[in-house]
Amino acid sequence: MAARADTVADDNFNGRNYAAAGSAGDVVMTLSHQQSPRQQRVLPRQPIAPQIVTMPSAVKCSFIGEGSANAVFCVTPASGTTNNRKGCNSNGQDDTVPWGAGTSADAGPLSTHLLRIPKAGPGVGPNTCLEHHAYYCNILRPLVGAEWLVGQQLIQGVVSSGVHTILNNLLAEMDRNRRSRPDWVGTRVAEDVDVALLVEDMTAACKKPTYPSSTTIIQCKPKWLVQSPSAPAGARRCRTCALAAASAASPRADETKRRTNNVKPSISHKAKPCPLVLVADPPLTPQDEAVLETALWDYVCQHLGSAVTFTSSSPASPSIRSFSVSELSMALQKARPAVVRWMRTTNFFRRIAAIQAEFDPCGALSVKSAIDDASAPSLDRLQTAMTLRDCTCFLRITTSDGLTSSEPVQVSAKLGDLDRKDGRRKLAQWQIQERTLISGGFYLGTEEPRQQTRCWLERQRD
Ligand SMILES: Nc1ncnc2c1ncn2[C@@H]1O[C@H](COP(=O)(O)OP(=O)(O)OP(=O)(O)O)[C@@H](O)[C@H]1O
Ligand SMILES: [Mg+2]
Ligand SMILES: [Zn+2]
Repeated sequence: MAARADTVADDNFNGRNYAAAGSAGDVVMTLSHQQSPRQQRVLPRQPIAPQIVTMPSAVKCSFIGEGSANAVFCVTPASGTTNNRKGCNSNGQDDTVPWGAGTSADAGPLSTHLLRIPKAGPGVGPNTCLEHHAYYCNILRPLVGAEWLVGQQLIQGVVSSGVHTILNNLLAEMDRNRRSRPDWVGTRVAEDVDVALLVEDMTAACKKPTYPSSTTIIQCKPKWLVQSPSAPAGARRCRTCALAAASAASPRADETKRRTNNVKPSISHKAKPCPLVLVADPPLTPQDEAVLETALWDYVCQHLGSAVTFTSSSPASPSIRSFSVSELSMALQKARPAVVRWMRTTNFFRRIAAIQAEFDPCGALSVKSAIDDASAPSLDRLQTAMTLRDCTCFLRITTSDGLTSSEPVQVSAKLGDLDRKDGRRKLAQWQIQERTLISGGFYLGTEEPRQQTRCWLERQRD
């Protein structure tokens, strides 16, 4: 069942919206918009043992990215290489192969998926990915819908095949070449994790694009799409902006973060984009319409730093292109109306917002920390709301340059980074954070000195 649903997720590419004409994607979105997450929950199914792919014995690996908890790699069987990223083989030698030079067909899921594996840290063990995958299959996929989630499956043999050593060599090489986050230097893949995840590669070029075309993938975290239930009445900031104000106001914590992340102060203090704009009510006047459209486009542009762009001039030749943020925002200008229209009409963000609200109706402060049978369900539901606040949205924008194309811009999105937030370990921290925001006046905007934020709530009131 898991494998079948993953295939569904891969094939129905995600709520696709064609800007040029009404499409089946719009119909699907309208239908699902009328149902609440509760209505959409599927009936319990018999648990079925997940299919597990086995790691090939000879592979080539390259580093793709990392977060605080996981590292992500492109892994392909040694005989069929499908990427042009700088790679490393079992001998630790550089191994750079042009895109399309190998046969991706015989690489199976490795041709379309990336290896995502936990780094060593508290709570990480041999079963970590099995637990994450069970949560994904049994809770998240029925709740959110497979078409909105980055597909994933399990892979075994990371340690027994020796791949674990290659991955750590790649991380060591990253350390030598100055890793992007100094506080991640020295972190390594957990050594007892033989079973890891294969996640659908969101940076892969569209499967059936028209040529010539270019595809840009932007990453953002949706965060709190609904106000915190424990925010004070009259709040001027949403939970995400209140936290941004609190971290900007706390020079010591902010300075430590800035130093460890090697971020310049001006960037560190830049107002963060408010996520409420993603679920804003339809404007009533043309002026408000223009304000919302600008805010949505700003939201996209503020995430261009994470973007990856592929250009394809023929089916056989997709290649990655590096753009500066300003070049990319210029290049995407012609897609702006379609992207904004998609963001305004998609059910994607409203759906996540509805789940966040339904699964956290009273706020973390109302959940008991002494876990007994009575309080466990509310903690379980809170951790699902928290998981869907800190996950990653991959927004994919494809523009076709061909004059004859009837679909000049395609926009779609999926959620990834869906590891379950462990409420039992994190509840106390969530509660402290909420108390700090309330008592410090960060929701009301009464903190001293006043921090600059551009919360959509605040903008609606002014
Ligand atoms: N499905 C995917 N397709 C393409 N790239 C991905 C995918 N998943 C992760 N990545 C890349 O790997 C990086 C780290 O992955 P991920 O965000 O899952 O790690 P994490 O440790 O869970 O992050 P966080 O600290 O935000 O929780 C991402 O920022 C992204 O660049
Ligand atoms: Mg994560
Ligand atoms: Zn806000």
